[in-house]
Amino acid sequence: MPELTGIGRLPMHAIQHDPDLMLDGIWRFQLLPDPEAEPGSDAWRDIDVPGCWTRQQTADLPHYTNVQMPFDGLPPEVPVANPTGRYERSFDLPDDMRGRRIVLHVGAAESVLIASLNGREIGISKDSHLAAEFEITDVVRPGANDLRLTVVKWSDASYVEDQDQWWHGGLTRSVYVYATEHVYFADIGAIAGLAEDDGAGTLRLTADIRFPAGAEARGWTVTTTLPDLYEPVSEMAPLSGGPAHPHDAASRDLMRARAVGGPAALGDRAEEWIRLDRSLEPAPAGRVSFNLRVPGIVPWSAEDPRRYPLLVTLRSPDGAEVETVTMLIGFRSVEVRGNDLLINGRRVLIRGVNRHDFDQHTGRVVSQDSMRADLIAMKRFGFNAVRTSHYPNDPGFLDLADELGLYVIDEADIESHAFQSVLCDDARYLNQWVSRVARMAQRDRNHPSIIAWSLGNESGYGANHDAAAAWLRRFDPSRPLHYEGAIRFDWTSDQLVSDLTCPMYPEIGAIVEHATSGLQRHPLIMCEYSHAMGNSNGTLADTWDAIESTPGLQGGFIWEWWDHGLLQTLADGTTRWAYGGDFDDEPNDGNFCADGLVWPDRMPKPALWEHRALASPVGIAVADGGLAVTNRRDFTDLAWLRVDWEVAVDGEVVAQGSLEAPAIGPGETAIITLDGLPEGPTGDEAWLTTHWRTRSALPWAPVGFEVAAIQVPLPVEVVAEPVPQPAPSLAPVTEDGTIVHPLLAAPPELCLWRAPTDNDRIGGMADHWAALGLDRLSRRPVSVVRSADGTIATINDEVTTNAGIRIVHERIVTGLEGGGARIVESLVIPDALDDLARVGVVLETVAGLDRVEWFGTGPHETYPDRKRAGLVGRWRSTVAEQYVPYIRPQENGGHADVRWLRVTDAAGSGLRFRLERPGQASATHLRAVDLAAATHDVELKPRRETIVHLDVAHRGLGTASCGPDTLPQYLVGPGTYRWTWTIEAVGPDPA
Ligand code: GAL
Ligand code: MG
Repeated sequence: MPELTGIGRLPMHAIQHDPDLMLDGIWRFQLLPDPEAEPGSDAWRDIDVPGCWTRQQTADLPHYTNVQMPFDGLPPEVPVANPTGRYERSFDLPDDMRGRRIVLHVGAAESVLIASLNGREIGISKDSHLAAEFEITDVVRPGANDLRLTVVKWSDASYVEDQDQWWHGGLTRSVYVYATEHVYFADIGAIAGLAEDDGAGTLRLTADIRFPAGAEARGWTVTTTLPDLYEPVSEMAPLSGGPAHPHDAASRDLMRARAVGGPAALGDRAEEWIRLDRSLEPAPAGRVSFNLRVPGIVPWSAEDPRRYPLLVTLRSPDGAEVETVTMLIGFRSVEVRGNDLLINGRRVLIRGVNRHDFDQHTGRVVSQDSMRADLIAMKRFGFNAVRTSHYPNDPGFLDLADELGLYVIDEADIESHAFQSVLCDDARYLNQWVSRVARMAQRDRNHPSIIAWSLGNESGYGANHDAAAAWLRRFDPSRPLHYEGAIRFDWTSDQLVSDLTCPMYPEIGAIVEHATSGLQRHPLIMCEYSHAMGNSNGTLADTWDAIESTPGLQGGFIWEWWDHGLLQTLADGTTRWAYGGDFDDEPNDGNFCADGLVWPDRMPKPALWEHRALASPVGIAVADGGLAVTNRRDFTDLAWLRVDWEVAVDGEVVAQGSLEAPAIGPGETAIITLDGLPEGPTGDEAWLTTHWRTRSALPWAPVGFEVAAIQVPLPVEVVAEPVPQPAPSLAPVTEDGTIVHPLLAAPPELCLWRAPTDNDRIGGMADHWAALGLDRLSRRPVSVVRSADGTIATINDEVTTNAGIRIVHERIVTGLEGGGARIVESLVIPDALDDLARVGVVLETVAGLDRVEWFGTGPHETYPDRKRAGLVGRWRSTVAEQYVPYIRPQENGGHADVRWLRVTDAAGSGLRFRLERPGQASATHLRAVDLAAATHDVELKPRRETIVHLDVAHRGLGTASCGPDTLPQYLVGPGTYRWTWTIEAVGPDPA
């Protein structure tokens, strides 16, 4: 019955009660096939609470779907097979709780919760990601109490919880009991802001006090105190007995003026009006409100998340303290002004990420430590915002966001994706919409971190949204609303339910066009962009260049934080990260759930470094007299950082130093001098690398923690060295035009293909490449012509793709001393080959060359459209470490702008390759076909040989698995390619 959202549930509130009796731990459990089934008397087992039963060896396993529902049917039909968990345990009520008001708190249940105590049903709740509370004062008894929580997996509500993620079942957040007095705080709303005139703090506080039936409110008082201020603020208000209806002429005059002319007519009588307005109606019994001015505060922001304790105390008529609620509040303002979202008056760029509750072991159960680790990692990688996609998170998550400093878009648990065009207008679902939105806001409104409410995700746009938005606007006018469904097909609309234009996965060109069209009406903040599936997040830098240079564009939230690979043990004992289908879950959407910036163990993927570079709090440029340093933050100066710098000429460090960053104010630039900075060093290229590190410990980083590493090229004096004449050596080319070297196990071959990335596969490129036959090229030597002295061989080949498309290829090979060669390649790619993965050569060395060193971008994986974080330098690694373990294997481990690369044994003997024009290169123990054939990382068997790719052109990564492909400038297409490279034996290293 979709109209029903709960029975017997207490109203949601913002007070976080500490448990008096924690009920987490081992419970008795049975999994029943449907809610009607009778439990078997000997079928009980133990189970962890909180915990998903889908992760605790029951017959019901995780199931992954994106848009489609996991079962057939039309809403509100519920499948007959409906896994139902019966949880039981008993508890003794501690003596000191006797006689008090007792509440049972169930943190979260997926998806329908039916609670009973001592054989009596106490209530029902739907809404998988918010708590249900039931008052059990009259049901609980001294001694043992028998608690039963029945959790039903599928219901009419499943259709509004159709998020793109694993389906689980179980009690996923803590269960506990707490007690209050019989007169108690039912709720406290504390919305803190900033006064427009002088930046003092403002606090709108509303306390709701409940009395047992028949009790008198007269004589009770509420005191509110902010003790931690320079001048502590404290105010007291009596409960009930508001002043009588005022009949004096001045009041009547003010009421008349307000009614006729509205708020504008009040002029300097606004304060007077607030007092009068409050006294017009008798105060509702049990509610007191305060409007406080709090001078001398430091505003809360993500950069400086200053919080102040707020104490709200309830006193009985005899003055005794009955209850004190303590919360930490932060003063900050958020408003939409024109096309800007202003936080504390500043247009803050939103560097956000979408986060789901996820754990590789437990599924959806996340500990406080895990949430903290997530947020710390986000801070360390430059994020300042998080969207709780796609449901409210544990309240502890918001405490952490408040504490560590992240702006939050808090999202209601509503996604009707499979039926998004109908349910939003289905009045039977109206209650679900409104109650899910309302309960979220009632619980979370006091958190300074929350800068906008989201009405949910991918649920179309209908009357139910209007109703929910209307409720929310009235309940909390202090925050803007966010809802993508309302703006999907019209960014220029009035957007009644969304104050933000928050598209998902738009093209860069489209948002720039919109922002410059004159039609923009709201700040544009992308609710999702840059899909992090596999080797992805191409064009992230281009996106940020556009955002930073276009007024009206204000950032967005990357999709997404986690790769949702669930740890799975296979029959042979090996483990892997499972995705859709791996639990025989049908239907499923494969590895589309593995699309995060961190692997399931929270290891950062290379794309995270790209984000960190783009979000750098500092910008640098070479300037007359030193280095121009820009503070790219909004609220704090740069004195929290120090910089360690070095200059390297052709990869060799020639100067370095360290200094504390001066207190450059937000948005300001200053020139700093680097003592010992060489002027015009001689060489081919010189780079100044700066490492910005914390000067003291922060809640999210220890002292000395690097928050950015950024580089600028320095001018050099290029001294024309005599071009070394190749010693007369025979060109190492066989009769049929094969280039040979004793350290090669397979000769250099033309390569136009890569193991498709998820973007290549889902974006259709992989199929196109297969149709063009790029994955198998055959070479037919047309001619091999040697110079008279044999030192130069000109090889003409006809290369044919597997689809029969012919390519003309010429190589001029000059023999170098020691068996090496310099190869000048030219290649004509015909128009039929309109989209290539790469143009380059691939070769394989003999086994044992397991070390790699390169001069190019590093140390992390970089690609032509994802290399802003790459630092140009000499990097050393092992070939094995170059492998980047994307859950579904694909092209990986590349480096952009490589000048040279060598692969050697431990002693330093091996091969060196030079690219005369920097290009994409990689060294790996896996062939592209090995990667393409595997479906999970654990299937791969590294070869002993080292496979080296040297590309003159490599296609960008883009984000086509969900969103735009890479930009035209990163595509590889038809035309003539000319490039030169060398292969030479090297080493061993001098001892
Ligand atoms: C969006 C959706 C997300 C996720 C993402 C693709 O459409 O809101 O939940 O499905 O695409 O990974
Ligand atoms: Mg969806």
